[in-house]
Amino acid sequence: MRLPIVAGNWKLNGSRESVSSLAREITATPVADVEVIVCPVALHLSDVAAVVENTGVKLGAQNASAAESGAYTGEVSSTMLAEYGCTHVIIGHSERRSLFGDTEAACAQRHQAVLAAGLTPIFCVGESLEEREAGTTVDVVGRQLQAAFDLVGSDAFSNAVIAYEPVWAIGTGKTATPEQAQEIHEAIRGMVAANDAEAAQAVRILYGGSVNAGNADELFAKPDIDGGLIGGAALKSADFLAICQAAARQCKTA
Ligand code: 13P
Repeated sequence: MRLPIVAGNWKLNGSRESVSSLAREITATPVADVEVIVCPVALHLSDVAAVVENTGVKLGAQNASAAESGAYTGEVSSTMLAEYGCTHVIIGHSERRSLFGDTEAACAQRHQAVLAAGLTPIFCVGESLEEREAGTTVDVVGRQLQAAFDLVGSDAFSNAVIAYEPVWAIGTGKTATPEQAQEIHEAIRGMVAANDAEAAQAVRILYGGSVNAGNADELFAKPDIDGGLIGGAALKSADFLAICQAAARQCKTA
């Protein structure tokens, strides 16, 4: 059985005070049988780290530099993130890819740097609406994963998490149906298996895109969906905790 993961991507939200109280509310209700991760902006990491320390809730960053150090203005390295207690880093989120020019090659380099620092990347893949309508979803996702395999090698996802986030489902309230998500998750596991059969069985593949307390159960009930990467609903502790409980419930019986 794969231990499910529910990760909250807080994106560019909150103040020092509000993220600390959100973290306090989340840690106040421990959820068994699920790995819970919260990902605030880099500047809020130390405040949130102080709250989640020794609670079982893990800390993730939303991005990391491909470089370890040097003349890279505005970047933050994985080693620096580790110093603040991060165990996970979101890499290649579609907002990074579409708004900030993170190419497939750049995402692969960031992924490699996170692994080199001993942290766990949460590597995001997903297609746009046009790509889905053109029937190219599996090709697009395959290309995004392949960039990491090409750079890192066949074990690129042995110590990583994958998040499938269809771009058209992010922040739109339009979630993929459990069947649509399962189809792509199964294809992703197959792509990992083509490189490393053992890693494919172990890798957690999260679904992201308008997951909420009302639709989490049916998504997590699918055999290849091992939890979720949550945006909007992660900003309300009651909703986020309900999603964590859905993951614990559904993935246990999978
Ligand atoms: P929403 O849950 O707000 O759709 O965002 C999903 C996401 O982008 C998580 O990384």
